Amino acid sequence: MPMTQWLRRAAFLVGGMLLLGGCEFTGLQSTLDPAGPIAQAQHDLLIWSYQLSWIVMIATFGVMAYVLIRFRRRRDDPDRIPAQFHGSAPLEIGLTIVPVLIVIAVAVPTVRTIFATETRVTPEAGDVIVNVTGYQWWWRFEYPELGVVTANELHIPAGRRVILNLDSADVLHSFWVPRLAGKRDLIPNQNNQLWIEAPDPGTYYGQCAELCLGAHAYMKFRVIAESDAEFEAWADSFQTVDSRAVQADPDVQQGYQLFATKGCTNCHTVQGYRDGSSVGTPDFPNLTNFGLRTTLAAGIVPNDRENLEAWLRDPQAVKPGNYMPALWQEDDPNADEEIAAIASYLLSLGAQSGPEAQASLGGSHGDR
Ligand code: CUA
Repeated sequence: MPMTQWLRRAAFLVGGMLLLGGCEFTGLQSTLDPAGPIAQAQHDLLIWSYQLSWIVMIATFGVMAYVLIRFRRRRDDPDRIPAQFHGSAPLEIGLTIVPVLIVIAVAVPTVRTIFATETRVTPEAGDVIVNVTGYQWWWRFEYPELGVVTANELHIPAGRRVILNLDSADVLHSFWVPRLAGKRDLIPNQNNQLWIEAPDPGTYYGQCAELCLGAHAYMKFRVIAESDAEFEAWADSFQTVDSRAVQADPDVQQGYQLFATKGCTNCHTVQGYRDGSSVGTPDFPNLTNFGLRTTLAAGIVPNDRENLEAWLRDPQAVKPGNYMPALWQEDDPNADEEIAAIASYLLSLGAQSGPEAQASLGGSHGDR
């Protein structure tokens, strides 16, 4: 074999091995590492069909290899022709029955799994209901029974059924948390439903799985499963939002003012912004308790001061295609100070609504 051909084959083999080495079964978004009943049922069906196809493949290639070797042209008898015949009743009956059995073996569990995972369920006591709306390019999560609206981070109690009503505000999106459940599309006015249940507390990573133009690849989200107590404390924190806490810190106070004067309140809702009433409109990410979020811009970067200031300064540089405008000209002398102040204000949101903060304010949400 010439050297170049040998090299090409070696490169192909090594490259292939490296490529396969990149596949891992326990990745953050791996269907092969299921959690919860829906993903488990889908995983089991996948593995069953996979095992069955291995049996079919081994049998088919086995027969082929046997025939190739057994009836090959031999050097010591090049003119030998194997016995010629046409038709074989047992073979043809077998070749009809076996595939039918294989189809049944795949079809029965498939149909059973479809009914188990895709049937619309009726909410029962203990279920959590979330209205999920897909937007270009972020997620709105509304808990109608809890009075909570948030974005991009879906908090759920572990071990409880969560019913998701899926809708889109614009184009098709698809809700996909591979470890919890297969994809389900968000279609305007279609009212699709999906239910999930996370067995254990933890973070489950999700991604829009329907090409929705622009920043589709940046339309991530997280499902944060918590204990019942943690989940309830999180939901309660939305009921106890208190804007009085911003008065305490002058930097935060300045950011609080700028949040309105720079126009943020035209789009973004913050519950309790003014004397317990909220500002903003529903069709943009709700920033209530924003300081409790772990990520920014639909899961693109961690939610910290540095990333938040970079985002406020030039949103397009962080996530190309999004609808957030840059609010400062490049030569604006006040930009640095104002951006820092708004970041301080936003990061403070949520800190003031915990039980300790309530106690330090000397009141509860019921007193106004
Ligand atoms: Cu939304 Cu892709």
